[in-house]
Amino acid sequence: MKALLIWAVLLNFYKLLQTSDCTSTHDQVLSIQVTTHQQADIVRNISSQYETVLWSPASPEYIGAHTEVHLFVPANNLGTVTDLLQTHHLTHQVLLDNTEELIEMQTRNESSDPRSSASYYERYHSLEDIYYWINKTAQEHPDMVKVILIGSSYEKRPLYVLKLSGRQERAEKRAIWIDCGIHAREWISPAFCLWFVQYSLNFYNLNNDITEMLNSMDIYVLPVMNPDGYKYTWTTNRMWRKNRSLSKESNCVGTDLNRNFDANWGTKGASNRPCDEIYCGQFPESEPEAEAVANFLRSHKDSVKLYLSIHSYGQMLLFPYSCSNEEVPNHAELFELVQDAAMKIRRYYRNNYKYGASAKTIYLAPGGSDDWAYNLGIHYSFTFELEDRGRYGFLLPPSLISKACNEALLALKSIALRVIQKT
Ligand code: ARG
Ligand code: ZN
Repeated sequence: MKALLIWAVLLNFYKLLQTSDCTSTHDQVLSIQVTTHQQADIVRNISSQYETVLWSPASPEYIGAHTEVHLFVPANNLGTVTDLLQTHHLTHQVLLDNTEELIEMQTRNESSDPRSSASYYERYHSLEDIYYWINKTAQEHPDMVKVILIGSSYEKRPLYVLKLSGRQERAEKRAIWIDCGIHAREWISPAFCLWFVQYSLNFYNLNNDITEMLNSMDIYVLPVMNPDGYKYTWTTNRMWRKNRSLSKESNCVGTDLNRNFDANWGTKGASNRPCDEIYCGQFPESEPEAEAVANFLRSHKDSVKLYLSIHSYGQMLLFPYSCSNEEVPNHAELFELVQDAAMKIRRYYRNNYKYGASAKTIYLAPGGSDDWAYNLGIHYSFTFELEDRGRYGFLLPPSLISKACNEALLALKSIALRVIQKT
């Protein structure tokens, strides 16, 4: 009996040890405050030399002297990494402990749980689920939804676009384009596309804004632009960003689709090394996913007036240019649109979104879809970075989906209605 007691005490002590900071048995996400150039070098080195995943910024080269860095560190490297940080007087906080549990929460299928009150749209869905949903949605709303196949991914998965139309037929209809899921790990993005489609179908003729939008514009929605990457985040690596194309020169997999468009392609802010997270690919539109979107927009460029690309995280409403520090000709107009949208989000949801031209608000990022669309002639072109600002980052819990989506929806409606008046 006594032996048992001692054993239990020892076991508890051992458990306590395990949960203390540097010996955690869980993968963690650290927030690291960089304040000098020297520290920036150190953190860049850590992120490239140890098995870690940079969450924010997207690439080590974006780490400067005053950057808050979010770094995912697997349990087996935690000790080494935190030691290095301490040695170089870098302060850090643990943003997330036990990311495994959060990932489990995001992939749990609550539809089988009768106690769960969360709707389909307040959960994340596997790629198979989303394909099924696309089909079902089109079947249930034959009067308002058409499915268009615009191409296929590197691994030959179909790229489906939903075309939403109001029941008022008008010749020469203008259009909006929305794509989600360029980056695989940004799960809130496809969730938003599903949310938006559902909202449009449910509230057409009930909500004035969405009714006006659908009566004046067709809306093309691409729910998952990077299906191979998205699938991979569900099966193999939750932190994956790029697509899954193989390269001839390297064993590293994947191209950053948001560096693969023909807008100052391959210049500063993108990488020509296949192992990097911001690898721009072999040439502009070398990736079938980027090419499919570019082809579709080229052939619809006269009708599409508003381009919108949904990403996460960071809470930002961005517009071109991303590929240069130059201002676009209608900078002031675009600035006003995002400022207005951000103000509405602050008023209704008490949440702050940054807004402005991309290169100045976030970082130089050439080869982006929004800049390319702008240069094609779609002069209302935006990228939204949805919630949050780093508390959960890519692992935003399902319970926060509705708020993130409602904020983005408010911004989208605000911008779209103004664009309808202007074009
Ligand atoms: N965070 C996203 C990225 O790294 C968007 C950055 C802004 N770039 C853009 N083209 N809008 O790709
Ligand atoms: Zn992204």
